Order: sequence, then C-alpha cells, then structure tokens
Amino acid sequence: MNILGIESSCDDTSAAVLTENGVRSNVIASQSVHIKFGGVVPELASRAHQKTISHTVEQALQEANTGIEDIDLIAVTQGPGLMGSLLVGLCFAKGLSLSRNIPIVGVNHMDAHIYANFIDHTPEFPFVALTVSGGHTQLVLVKAPFDHEILGKTRDDAAGEAFDKIGKIMGLEYPAGPIMDRLSKEGDPKFHRFPQAMANEGLDFSFSGLKTSALYYLQDKEESWLESHRNDVCASISHAITEVLIKKLKRAVKQTGVKSIAIAGGVSANSMLRAKAGKLADSLGLHLYIPKLSYCTDNAAMIAITGKLKAESGTYDDLAMKPFASL
Ligand code: KG4
Ligand code: ZN
Repeated sequence: MNILGIESSCDDTSAAVLTENGVRSNVIASQSVHIKFGGVVPELASRAHQKTISHTVEQALQEANTGIEDIDLIAVTQGPGLMGSLLVGLCFAKGLSLSRNIPIVGVNHMDAHIYANFIDHTPEFPFVALTVSGGHTQLVLVKAPFDHEILGKTRDDAAGEAFDKIGKIMGLEYPAGPIMDRLSKEGDPKFHRFPQAMANEGLDFSFSGLKTSALYYLQDKEESWLESHRNDVCASISHAITEVLIKKLKRAVKQTGVKSIAIAGGVSANSMLRAKAGKLADSLGLHLYIPKLSYCTDNAAMIAITGKLKAESGTYDDLAMKPFASL
C-alpha cells in the first residue's frame, strides 16, 4: 500500500509518502512568519498552509518518485490543532480523495506522535508513551493499537510551551525549545534550582509555576549577567523540565508494570530528555523507543504510518469527516 500523509495542524505544512519499503519522502515546510510575534498566529498559519500545501504535496510525490495515480490511501490530520490550519489540510486531502477516488483516513495528531515510533521499529504492546509537544504533555498507556488510556496530563502549560515561553522571557526566538537545548549543552544544569512542580505526586504535570519562577528569577538580572549565564539558565530550566518528565515516566512504569516505554512529540527531540530516558530504561531493564529526530517534531510521515495502521485494522473515513480542534 502506498500512502500519502498530510499534516497541517499547527505551523508546519508537511506531506510524506510511505510505501512497503518505508518512508520515501517527508517534506516539511515550516512557517517563519510567526517568529516576529514570538508564537503561532492562527490566522497567519492557515494562510501560509494555503499557500504551500499544493507545492508541498507535489514535492513529496516527486521526491518519492511516484505519482498521485500510485497512491492507495490518503492519511490526513483531523485534530487536535488550530481549526483554520486543520481545515486547509483536510479540505485539500478530501479534494484529492474525491477527484482521484482514493480512500481517505483521518488521523489523531497525538496518536501519530506515538505511532511515529512504528516507522523504524515494531514496539511490543503494552507500553507507556510520554508524549511531549508544544500543546500537550501526556503519559499514555498504549495497550494495543488505538487502545489507549491517558494516565496523566498537564494541568496547565505543556512541556514544549514551557520551553518556548521561558525562552521568550530570555529573549530567544520562537520556538525556543531547540535553541535552549543547544545552549544547555554548554551550561551547568545545577546552576540554579528551579521548581519541579508535582514531581513526587501522581501522574499529572504542571509547568506554569516554573514559568513564573523563571520570570521572577530573571526580571532583575542585567543583560551582561544574562550574556554570561544564558547557557547555565537554559541547562537549569532543561534539567527541571526533564527531571519531572522522567520521574513521572518512571512512576507510570511502576504503576502499570510495562516492559517498554516510548517518548514522542517535539520535546522528545530534546537531548537531555533522550539521555535521561536512556538511563531510565537501562536502570529498569526496559525497551526504549524514540523516533529519529525528523519524526519527533510535526511531520507527515507519522500521519502516514498511523493511517496505515488504521487502514490495516479496517478503519476508513469518508468525505463527511470533520476537523476537531480539541480531538
Ligand atoms: O510536536 P511539535 O512539533 O508540535 C506540536 O504538536 O506542538 O512540538 C513542538 C514543540 C515546541 O514547543 C518546541 O519548542 C519543542 O517541541 N521542541 C523542543 C525541541 N525540539 C522541539 N523542546 C526542547 N528541546 C528540543 N530539542
Ligand atoms: Zn505535534
């Protein structure tokens, strides 16, 4: 089965082709229009998707050395995400489906982050997935394909949002997460002890207190001080966020008794988190699954693989399918 994946839930327009031989293309057009606003502006995001989607899909087909006539299934993000952004991808996919008579399947974007782990591996069920992105932070017990139980989630900000908002306070460009990751490598994670909210209770998360704490800590610091300690502050923030994530992941493993864990979503690209997840897996004798970097942040290859798994279980959609911003 040749699958065309289409993703447009936030500020990346992406199209990918997945065949029996694996991912043949995974084109990602990131939108730079949001940088000067320090965050995603929904109206601008949908306009930018509208401009690039046709070309992005064409490029994915070309790079895969295939034509639309070779596509057997279209998998498209149905939610969660920004309504205007979702509509662009979904309407484009429906148009293709209708005009070329290709079956279509809608994909949950957060499911897709988890199933990105199935592109290069075959994780055994059950496993616990830590899904950490710009909009979500969840611990999910994945019992069987598409049989999920959310064990815990954030009560306020998502982990990626915490990176981005604290980075913004520090004057870093949006999205600050990858920049903070890079700067952290040269810094001291023990330089300042930031709060690790709810680290030792339950499986829910809270990151808004960390953001406030960073704001208070940084507000009276001179520019010259920040210049010389930027890397240390980034490393200390990264330490606080990743410690909470790993402590909760460990508690979820103890609670469920699973033998495998996965991390997924944009923040799973974080080097400190990847290293700590590796150590946790080693110490508890667990299998660890982490998508390769290009499948961590938003991409259409993860939509295509999830569509494939859904189709294999006999699930398809039709043209009445609607986008759901809070799916
Ligand atoms: O999954 P994703 O691409 O989009 C959403 O579904 O939200 O995640 C984007 C988030 C952003 O907050 C970004 O700053 C964060 O993932 N991120 C990182 C890293 N790469 C992306 N955060 C920390 N370290 C990274 N290396
Ligand atoms: Zn995402």
